[in-house]
Amino acid sequence: MAERMISNVLTQPDVALELTLRPSLFSEFTGQPKVRERLEIAVQAAKQRGEALDHILLNGPPGLGKTTLAYILAKAMDVNVKATSGPTIEKAGDLAGLLTNLEPGDVLFIDEIHRLQKTIEEYLYPAMEDFKLDIIIDQGPNARSVRLNLPRFTLIGATTRAGLLTAPLLTRFPVRERLDYYQVQDLEKIVVRSARLLSVEVDAAGAHEIARRSRGTPRIANNLLRRVRDYAQVKGDGRITAPVADRALAMLEIDQNGLDEMDKRILQAIILKFSGGPVGLNSLAVAVGEEPDTLEEVYEPYLIMEGYLNRTPQGRVATELSFKKLGLQTVPGGQPRLL
Ligand SMILES: Nc1ncnc2c1ncn2[C@@H]1O[C@H](COP(=O)(O)OP(=O)(O)O)[C@@H](O)[C@H]1O
Ligand SMILES: [Mg+2]
Repeated sequence: MAERMISNVLTQPDVALELTLRPSLFSEFTGQPKVRERLEIAVQAAKQRGEALDHILLNGPPGLGKTTLAYILAKAMDVNVKATSGPTIEKAGDLAGLLTNLEPGDVLFIDEIHRLQKTIEEYLYPAMEDFKLDIIIDQGPNARSVRLNLPRFTLIGATTRAGLLTAPLLTRFPVRERLDYYQVQDLEKIVVRSARLLSVEVDAAGAHEIARRSRGTPRIANNLLRRVRDYAQVKGDGRITAPVADRALAMLEIDQNGLDEMDKRILQAIILKFSGGPVGLNSLAVAVGEEPDTLEEVYEPYLIMEGYLNRTPQGRVATELSFKKLGLQTVPGGQPRLL
């Protein structure tokens, strides 16, 4: 239970905190230089032509700045944002309501766009392409289709799973950008900026310690900063130095490589319960008590990138690095045993 809570602290957005710390200008958006440059050019070009921005799809693991970028883009274009998410659009009428209330140039932000129902998706195609919406009004013998003209708007879709998007939807986004895990130096800058906004004193080494244990993710860096701040306040003089950050993170069971309890539980399950794998996603999810989607979207990408896990057609396999991490040794054909 406690482990579950710690994991949630790392992955769930804290709404109030994110509002304070979320950059609102490109110049405050740290890292992802290529993505940022391409998007800034798209904004400038659209503004010069006096047109709406092209539709943009932002893809990448949670907490890397997709929502942040959507708002930065709208602000840079000087337009309003209407925000919604795939699962909350239940009926075609919900979508029609959103679309018909847009002003020319406005941004419609659809988070988790991979979870949009297929029927709703089909209404989106002509809306995105021709700025038309065909809706059926009335029922039974009076039912008829009405074509509405929409203002030229910009759809910004965000997804953690671009692979689940259908080809027709994907190809209707002229601009597609993928956000990657951040470099430690970029996360350091983010920690320093957030500390300033939260009026916390942090030295360079303290910022570095938090940054390098944040799984490449700004949201986690900000969440850890807040937890370390609490620790520094209660157990120290409020200042965040490397030793203070290290003690605070150890208390939170964030290890030297930034892996948390759930990461370790996943590796342990693969190795000890499934002899190192391959194990299917669903069996693994049951073994660690987490949703398969969360495993796949939140935990696995980082573990794979860092070389702890491989995805094979037969299932997930722990790498030698995972065995080492847990202090276990691979025994060919036998049970893993402690080194
Ligand atoms: N490039 C960045 N520079 C500074 N802070 C960032 C950056 N990207 C994300 N953040 C911080 O991380 C938080 C989570 O980002 P968010 O845009 O909500 O991620 P996503 O939508 O991809 O899950 C934001 O509130 C912001 O404080
Ligand atoms: Mg988001």
